[in-house]
Amino acid sequence: PATAPTISFIGAIDQGTTSTRFIIFNQKGEIVAQHQIEFEQIYPQPGWHEHNPDELVSSVEECIDGAVAQFEKQGHSKSQIKAVGITNQRETTVVWDKNTGNALYNAIVWTDTRSQDLVRRLKQRLGASELTSRCGLPLSTYPSVSKLLWMLDNVKAVKEAYENGTLAFGTVDTWLTFKLNGGTTKNVYVSDPSNASRTMFMNLEKLEYDNELIDWFRLDRNKIKLAKIVRSSDKTAYGSLANTSLQGTKIMGCLGDQSAALVGQKGFTPGRAKNTYGTGCFLLYNVGDKPVYSSHGLMSTVAFDFGPGKCMYALEGSIAVGGSSVKFLVNNFGFIENSTKLSALAETVEDNGGVTFVTAFSGLFAPYWIDDARGTIFGITAYTQRGHIARATLEATCFQTKAILDSMGKDSGKDLEELAVDGGMCNSDLVMQTQSDLIGIPVNRPAMRETTALGAAIAAGFAAGVWSTFEELQEVNLEGSTFFKPQITVEAADKRFERWEKAVQMSKGWAN
Ligand code: G3P
Repeated sequence: PATAPTISFIGAIDQGTTSTRFIIFNQKGEIVAQHQIEFEQIYPQPGWHEHNPDELVSSVEECIDGAVAQFEKQGHSKSQIKAVGITNQRETTVVWDKNTGNALYNAIVWTDTRSQDLVRRLKQRLGASELTSRCGLPLSTYPSVSKLLWMLDNVKAVKEAYENGTLAFGTVDTWLTFKLNGGTTKNVYVSDPSNASRTMFMNLEKLEYDNELIDWFRLDRNKIKLAKIVRSSDKTAYGSLANTSLQGTKIMGCLGDQSAALVGQKGFTPGRAKNTYGTGCFLLYNVGDKPVYSSHGLMSTVAFDFGPGKCMYALEGSIAVGGSSVKFLVNNFGFIENSTKLSALAETVEDNGGVTFVTAFSGLFAPYWIDDARGTIFGITAYTQRGHIARATLEATCFQTKAILDSMGKDSGKDLEELAVDGGMCNSDLVMQTQSDLIGIPVNRPAMRETTALGAAIAAGFAAGVWSTFEELQEVNLEGSTFFKPQITVEAADKRFERWEKAVQMSKGWAN
């Protein structure tokens, strides 16, 4: 008699800026079990933002155990989880001693602007303007290199490790993979191109470290252990889990979180784009198998590397502050009791009442790249209510998305026809309607919004043989999407946008 087919599942670690989750997906890309926790955000000084590297690891382990317990309660067996994929906050920089495996400093988070002066000096150095055409990123406080250079200048233990040749440097994927494999010196030390391309050390076309870039930053490659760059989907390179209830399960996929969201939104082919409203907000537009360099303030990055013929690049527009502006109103000002209620507060008023909030807490990223801008609220009068501030806060991300899409249109010569969205803030109908109004195209919100984790599961699932073609994934997460269509005229949208642009110009220079 025919035996029942074995049902396979894939696990995805999603280590983001403010929370970690582990999600188990079935072969239809549906969520079967999940566990999520928030971890400590460390803000030692204005503009500084750190994470405890050990807490990042323990949060992952706790989430795996939590989700697996749920999974088993449903009657499934751990052996049905064929592989695990990792997706992570990008650029955040961890340094550790390659002999002990111990972190030498807190992780410096991608939003951190402490390297502002250092970056200003680097920009004066001969050849600074040519870096972007090699690595895709503009010189700013955002890429990992600026954080590493700051640590080398300011943290004794890091400087000593560098001089002794024991310094290991990694983005969060490398740190997690290393630690989840057991964290000993014999262990895996890898990164995928979507993460490695965020360091400023990787040559975007060759997908290899570029010695000229490393030399330009006056770093001695022999004194730093850099992760080996391997494909985003690989059967053996990422090793296996040493601890947790999934001990022995292989890690077969790895993608920076924004690349993972593009994959999870099935952005496999040129012309597909997605915008993820997470802690920050990131728009990625698939440009095909060759990088496209922006002349309008966008970055070029690796979308994913699934092997020959399946390595794609993206144009990216990064917004430093997205959902973190909502958390800011909740945590710092006690504006409302929790983030989910901000949208309702914004709906208590008809419009922003003339208020514009440039949420430049970490300077402004794409397409402006103004390191010294700071958060600024314009247009407050005696009429202003909390609802207006709430609305202006939510609108800030939508305005920046509009600015990014305008740049993308200019760089690619094509206007996008529809924007796929995901991430926490997209749960707000108000935000999504505002977004569609401002960009003048429909916004498509899928029913299942854990697309970042799904992308990591897809990367691992390809290597594990759970899926083998992009086509078979096209049906995943199709049903139940919501479409938001523009409800205001182009003229009305432009008028609102003009005020925003004026406010951006006025927020400049405050950090000096
Ligand atoms: O580049 C930073 C990005 O990867 C962080 O993503 O989702 O944690 O805001 P998220």
